[in-house]
Amino acid sequence: MKAIQYRTFGGPEVLEYVDLPEPQPRAGEVLIETTAIGINFPDIRERLGLYNRAETRVGGVTLPQVGGLQVVGRVVRTGAETDAHLIGRKVVALMSKGAYAQRAVARVDLLLELEDDADDVAMASVPCQGVTAFLSLQVCTVLRAGESLLVHGAAGGVGSLAVQIAKVLGAGTVIGTASSGARRAFVPGTGADLAISCDSPQWPEAVLAHTGGKGVDMILETIGGDVFDQNFACLGMLGRCVVIGSTRGPGEPLAPRRLMAKAQTLTGVYLPAFFQRPDLVQRGLRFLRDGIERGLIRPNVAATLPLSRTADAHAMLERREAQGVIVLDPRY
Ligand SMILES: NC(=O)c1ccc[n+]([C@@H]2O[C@H](COP(=O)([O-])OP(=O)(O)OC[C@H]3O[C@@H](n4cnc5c(N)ncnc54)[C@H](OP(=O)(O)O)[C@@H]3O)[C@@H](O)[C@H]2O)c1
Repeated sequence: MKAIQYRTFGGPEVLEYVDLPEPQPRAGEVLIETTAIGINFPDIRERLGLYNRAETRVGGVTLPQVGGLQVVGRVVRTGAETDAHLIGRKVVALMSKGAYAQRAVARVDLLLELEDDADDVAMASVPCQGVTAFLSLQVCTVLRAGESLLVHGAAGGVGSLAVQIAKVLGAGTVIGTASSGARRAFVPGTGADLAISCDSPQWPEAVLAHTGGKGVDMILETIGGDVFDQNFACLGMLGRCVVIGSTRGPGEPLAPRRLMAKAQTLTGVYLPAFFQRPDLVQRGLRFLRDGIERGLIRPNVAATLPLSRTADAHAMLERREAQGVIVLDPRY
């Protein structure tokens, strides 16, 4: 089978289009012939070797690595003691690695069956990004109907789905941040009420102005750096800040006493940790599948590229060119 593998950490050029033997499913796993493969920002962090640094404390990557966390495809084989009814079924699956290939192994409890007419590309674009957003809004803390929300990186994969999920959940005002004018122009199309930049330290004032001075009820934080601390200037009374990522680095630690003044909560999400709670991953996958089927959630697929051009797809994400998500076609 064709796959994308890297043998050293580095830039997109370390990604090699190679022939590999197909992986073998073990008990509780299935082998999927892939039809669409979604790309995630964490795939890039893994490729750079950032998750192998001691201070990151989020596991690591063993070389050589076939990366990638999400696919749609058909089950072609099951492992020992695994229910064979899945053979031939179309599924969407989340996995810890191995998605960038024509055949990929997934755990049965981290996949969801799809109808034959389900949109492969749309479904492949949501498992990691969409489930992360869902867990942030419904599990780690709960966004209640009418509450306001600030979504950082709202033109990206997690951000653009988070805005849509929040609106399906009945959110009130949703504000999204994005870096360039073109990316901010994209954000209202996802359902956000306002798009702002967070590049100047004064950006929280725009959030306060738009929420009658109260600040927002929830923040989905993916930026880090100075922005991490600045968030608390526009998080309201009883507000919750969910740390999902830190594209600009972790920023300065927060003094816990800072949370006392407005009875605020700081929490975080790391999706692989939820692989030990597959019931919650399943809840997220079902929510996304149903939302897409009903036309309530529309993933914005910025580009569909051949598997052989995965390096170009990574470079696009790193140049911050993709509005929404990028999907790979494993046939080429
Ligand atoms: N905790 C988890 O389990 C989990 C799971 C998935 C993703 N994540 C994290 O969530 C964040 C978004 O992931 P994604 O898959 O949605 O990625 P994405 O589509 O590439 O979006 C990343 C967004 O971050 C912004 N950004 C800010 N600084 C950036 C930088 N230096 N390089 C690239 N983008 C930068 C970009 O928006 P602007 O250019 O408009 O600012 C972009 O929209 C990342 O931090 C990722 O690591 C965490």
